[in-house]
Amino acid sequence: MTAPPPSLSLPPQAAVATPSNDNLDVEAVRRDFPILQQTVRGKPLVYLDNAATTQKPRAVIDAVTHYYENENANIHRGVHFLSQQATFAYERARGRVGKFLNAADSSEIIFVRGTTEGINLVARGYGRAKVGQGDEILISHMEHHSNIVPWQMLCEEKGASLRVVPVDDDGELVMEEYERLLGDRTRLVAVTHASNALGTVNPIAQIVSLAHDRGVPVLVDGAQGVPHMPVDVRQLDCDFYLFSGHKLFGPTGIGVLYGKRHLLDDMAPYQGGGSMIKSVTLENTTFADVPTKFEAGTPNIAGAIGLAAAIDYVNDIGQDRIDAYESGLLDYATQRLGELADLRIIGSARQKVSVISFVMNDAHPHDIGTILDSEGIAIRTGHHCAQPLMQRYQVSATARASLAFYNTRDEIDALTDGLVRVHEVLG
Ligand code: ALA
Repeated sequence: MTAPPPSLSLPPQAAVATPSNDNLDVEAVRRDFPILQQTVRGKPLVYLDNAATTQKPRAVIDAVTHYYENENANIHRGVHFLSQQATFAYERARGRVGKFLNAADSSEIIFVRGTTEGINLVARGYGRAKVGQGDEILISHMEHHSNIVPWQMLCEEKGASLRVVPVDDDGELVMEEYERLLGDRTRLVAVTHASNALGTVNPIAQIVSLAHDRGVPVLVDGAQGVPHMPVDVRQLDCDFYLFSGHKLFGPTGIGVLYGKRHLLDDMAPYQGGGSMIKSVTLENTTFADVPTKFEAGTPNIAGAIGLAAAIDYVNDIGQDRIDAYESGLLDYATQRLGELADLRIIGSARQKVSVISFVMNDAHPHDIGTILDSEGIAIRTGHHCAQPLMQRYQVSATARASLAFYNTRDEIDALTDGLVRVHEVLG
């Protein structure tokens, strides 16, 4: 890593509203998010679509702006001042992510566009080498399409099969079935940390331990994990862990693949191009070491810097505090929505992140979303890129409110009132 130039100008420090006690000062936190101050359709914005993407604190916006105003240059290529400055900021961001996940080394952190690209990278780089005719990949019924389709494509190419751990009526994995499905031909387990459609938090440490007993590596889709709880990849002992920056209050177009170093060392690159090489002749190429081997082309430098600022922001508030606050908010929302006779919550696992999916008698989820939008309330409606899960619960779509630590009980009350209005309009 290039040393910082002597006159390196650091981005403005995050102005984080950190309360002095265990309770989150949510009003102070909300002031950190400029977008939350606006009105929508004449009403205060109530943003409850955080599983789709989260809003960005001023600290992240400032870090990205600071980079473009002061440091912008291409990285790992230039001897000039700005290039060194940008390289330092980018590699510093990698170090921040490594610490955030408690990776053994920052070289285990690969910057990608997002969770989807990271899973595709593993499917190509690991799956293509390790999965053959008759082998099996084990996923769960609650996966997002991004943790289904790449494995289907790999299975199709290799003559392998996709096996699926079922989900029970509450939205929990059937662990006895998981154990039964882990077999001699299982080459990889790919499972979500938390379901984007149900909120279910899966027992990752147990899943990993059972898989490792049989010598099977485990990939964890952490897109809905890291925004809600502390994640320690060494404690979980997972082999791959992925997340997207934009769901963690950071920019879009940046994400992270964590992989154990010995696995990454053995994997073929996902894309060829500039940066990822040691040397190139017209006859052949030797590849760079990890992580560079997997980062062909000019990466999303500003995105990585913005993600590091988001991680600093979240760390300053404290992930345990965020977890505790969101759990209280989820309980309150579950209780309030439970008061509505014609509403059915889908997903009542014992461990949930702050996601509530629901259907209402005779009301199409899109109509629910449209009526709530007229009240300034943003939720997501549809299949949530989890069509097999919708089929499991025999619905084509749900309405979904997904909460972040800047949401309030007043906003849950506004949602409840909005749903009463839905009932009045749609009957
Ligand atoms: N995966 C994102 C969601 O659940 C887009 O909404």
